[in-house]
Amino acid sequence: MGVFEEIDAKLSALEEAAKREWSEAPAAERENVRLRYLGRKGSLNAILRGLKDLQPEDRRTVGERANQIKDTLTALFGDSEPVGDTQLSPGYDYTLPGRPRPRGKRHILTQTMDEVMDIFYGMGFEIADGPEIETEYYNFSALNFPPDHPARDMQDTFFLNDEYLMRTHTSPVQVRVFERQRPPVRILAPGRSYRHEAINARSYCVFHQVEGFFVDVDVSFGDLKGILLAFAMEYFGSDAKLRFRPSFFPFTEPSTEVDVVCLLCGGKGCPICKHEGWLEILGAGMIDPAVFAAVDYDPKVFSGYAFGMGMERIAMLKHGIDDIRLFYENDLRFLRQF
Ligand code: DAH
Repeated sequence: MGVFEEIDAKLSALEEAAKREWSEAPAAERENVRLRYLGRKGSLNAILRGLKDLQPEDRRTVGERANQIKDTLTALFGDSEPVGDTQLSPGYDYTLPGRPRPRGKRHILTQTMDEVMDIFYGMGFEIADGPEIETEYYNFSALNFPPDHPARDMQDTFFLNDEYLMRTHTSPVQVRVFERQRPPVRILAPGRSYRHEAINARSYCVFHQVEGFFVDVDVSFGDLKGILLAFAMEYFGSDAKLRFRPSFFPFTEPSTEVDVVCLLCGGKGCPICKHEGWLEILGAGMIDPAVFAAVDYDPKVFSGYAFGMGMERIAMLKHGIDDIRLFYENDLRFLRQF
């Protein structure tokens, strides 16, 4: 057999083998089959490289035959030349939908704080914050807590040493803002607070509060009621109703605790509101002259209101969450619902 016949036989065998392997290869393997026969270092090119040893007329015949096979195989394997440096497999169905990737989202408490801030921001409040590690002075003394007040007890407060503690509420931000700003001040201060409390479904050692306060000339209790009702209708819905109960805080006079009508029963009484029809959401009042004295505001000229609202509390009411610990356990089955 001459060189020509030998190469011709090789070409025929190659074509047969290529077709068979292609039809038998699983989709993921087909790219390898293609490279093995048509790639730059593939079998077909190896044969074509031997053409230089042939007589010129044989070379043309074999060349034509080789090119024919190349065309046949290219058509069979599909038009799947590598694009850029990505190897696209010819068996790939580009119309398949992509693989969904799990998407993260903001924690329900962050969402709640953002929503509350948005509402008050829209009513002219500016956002401020203060340190979570506070001094005894800002957390208690400047807010008119007497030296023997039970809240100062180690039982309720995480003390770090004689002077520093984890703030038990966001009210100290009032004093910090008053010290550096003259009225009018209209501030919303969101943040974490800490209490040395037994952990159960209703209380946790850390929680989130939003403190709001407004000081100017002629600020009245009526202004406080108006702003809180506007907030409740925006956050809970337009049929939200509020109830103001007399209460006591050292830094406000008069003081009030505010309830929202039970969202579940509309005030008729149900297990969620313990048959009261109402649920407490915040403490508030008119800022005590003793607080103004600590920051050199003249109580004869200025008056102001303040309120402090628990974020876990309002989120639990709005979304029907019955255990505060859920916010802190990072159970994705819980978090994904919001
Ligand atoms: N700081 C209080 C607490 O944590 C809540 C509070 C009550 C804040 C009355 C206020 C207020 O600003 O006026 O229990």
